[in-house]
Amino acid sequence: MTDKYEQVIELAKRRGFLWNSFELYGGTAGFYDYGPLGAMLKRRVENIWRDIFVINEEYYEIEVPTIGIEDIFIASGHVGGFSDPLTECLKCKEAFRADHLVGDVVENPDTLSADELTVVIGKHNIKCPECGGGLGKVYEFNLMFKTSIGPGGKRSGYLRPETAQGMFVDFPRLLKFYRDRLPFGVTQIGKAYRNEISPRQGVIRLREFTQAEAEIFIDPRDKTHPKFGEISDIILVLYSQKGQEQGSSEKMSIGDAVQNKIIAHQFLGYCLARTYQFLVRVGVSPEKLRFRQHMKDEMAHYAADCWDAEIQSDRFGWVEVVGIADRTDYDLKAHAKQSETELNVYVSYDKPIKVERFAVKPNMGVLGPMFKGNAGKIANALKLLKSEDLSGETIEVVVDGKVIQVDKEAVSFENVTEEVHGETIIPHVIEPSFGIDRITYSLLEHSYFEEEAKVEEGEEEEKRIVLRLPPEVAPVQAAVLPLLTRKELIDPANKIVKALRKAGILVAFDDSGTIGRRYRRNDEIGTPYSITVDYQTIDDGTVTIRDRDSMKQVRAGMDGIEENIYDMIYKGKSFDEAGRKV
Ligand code: ATP
Ligand code: GLY
Repeated sequence: MTDKYEQVIELAKRRGFLWNSFELYGGTAGFYDYGPLGAMLKRRVENIWRDIFVINEEYYEIEVPTIGIEDIFIASGHVGGFSDPLTECLKCKEAFRADHLVGDVVENPDTLSADELTVVIGKHNIKCPECGGGLGKVYEFNLMFKTSIGPGGKRSGYLRPETAQGMFVDFPRLLKFYRDRLPFGVTQIGKAYRNEISPRQGVIRLREFTQAEAEIFIDPRDKTHPKFGEISDIILVLYSQKGQEQGSSEKMSIGDAVQNKIIAHQFLGYCLARTYQFLVRVGVSPEKLRFRQHMKDEMAHYAADCWDAEIQSDRFGWVEVVGIADRTDYDLKAHAKQSETELNVYVSYDKPIKVERFAVKPNMGVLGPMFKGNAGKIANALKLLKSEDLSGETIEVVVDGKVIQVDKEAVSFENVTEEVHGETIIPHVIEPSFGIDRITYSLLEHSYFEEEAKVEEGEEEEKRIVLRLPPEVAPVQAAVLPLLTRKELIDPANKIVKALRKAGILVAFDDSGTIGRRYRRNDEIGTPYSITVDYQTIDDGTVTIRDRDSMKQVRAGMDGIEENIYDMIYKGKSFDEAGRKV
């Protein structure tokens, strides 16, 4: 029996959503092309993401190269540790993710080391799933695609495995752009590359894929969110660390989850909420969506906390489509060290605060005659001493690499109260990271329905495939169908097409086959509205508009049709308001 994945992929291939890349040459696993309808669908998903994160959150978008120099990925930890455990069949040489092969015999296999996996494979006598051959020793395989920059291969580079690093590297510039104030966010939508070991999950696991990521730099002392009130009532299905230990998820408002410390802080909760709104708006079924917290031993090397948005898929079960991580100051500290540049922010206090400080006062009357030209440097070194440094018989300072003994009479000390106006901090980063390809596939699967067709006028009885995509996501937004290929019907149909295009609506003009067939062709690519021009159009200037989901029809004026359709696609106007029932 075919499952939904097969049905969706069959439709996607047939109608130009998704094709295997390099098909002409036999294809290669882990690469997919978006055909004309798929590319448009994906673009619309990305644009809704932009609407939420760039326009409404004001996290401006940047674009950096997809190749990064080696320093970046040494700092980020990808050169050292971005790997999956690999084992090869000794007979057929096929490669496998070792943690995937032992899933049935151990819990949390992704927490095991390569050596531990080798032991488990041996102990349970696990064989090659392809040919039954023995499996080799497990080793860590780095997932980055390595390349060299310039001729001669002198400088190493990598295709980026996440878009995130480009945003950390640009931190000093971004901080200036945002006028040195926290919090601020920045986004990027672009390609990421991972040389996945055995991508056997179609579009779910690609070697080249699109990420949409936001890096939000916050003050670690204040993790509240100014707009938290807007989203605190949103109910999510949460599968927390504790829930996973007990084997149950729970439905809860974000406000309650933050208050009960299930979600660590408001900023993280806010990102979960906006992620939920985005996913539902693009067409993911809310009842097939949950947020799962990473277990402690599952967390990425940079994360202190992480929640994945997971989508239920017919074939693959719960699939991660978004990772929302609290990356703390990990990345900025790592890049500061690697680049030997300070990456921090001076934050001013609302009101200056009074701070008591131990102060050493060098006595120049004693130091001058004693140390002559060196006295100034020694005085400065003395000022940095702490009270415990002054407890011995003599005082020692290091100046120009030399230890110098200073007589106790050369200093006095006291506690002074000073006004402090701010402090220097390293921002923390909250990162929602979206996999656009997995989301695009998921919404195709969630919107795919096969129905016993209600027979409409002029149709043969057959099953109806329909993609119930949200109208603002559907690649083709309206079909214009002249009932017959006669000039008196074609002319007004063309006029409608022109008006719709002028309003920015993507229209398909279709005049071939029975009207029923034309409806079906449009239903299966998710076109939400079909406009039929018939002889009544000539008499009274009206057309029928057919709704894809209910298959209901209304009669509406040709004049202003573009506004009518536009408002249904983008402004939430209901179909019942579009005209008079027929
Ligand atoms: P997985 O555990 O499934 O490999 P991941 O934890 O490595 O995923 P992240 O590193 O958190 O994924 O990447 C962020 C997002 O990028 C994921 O939520 C996913 O949607 C997407 N993504 C990651 N790897 C791939 C891939 N190979 N193909 C398609 N999308 C991917
Ligand atoms: N930026 C998160 C990830 O791709 O892993």
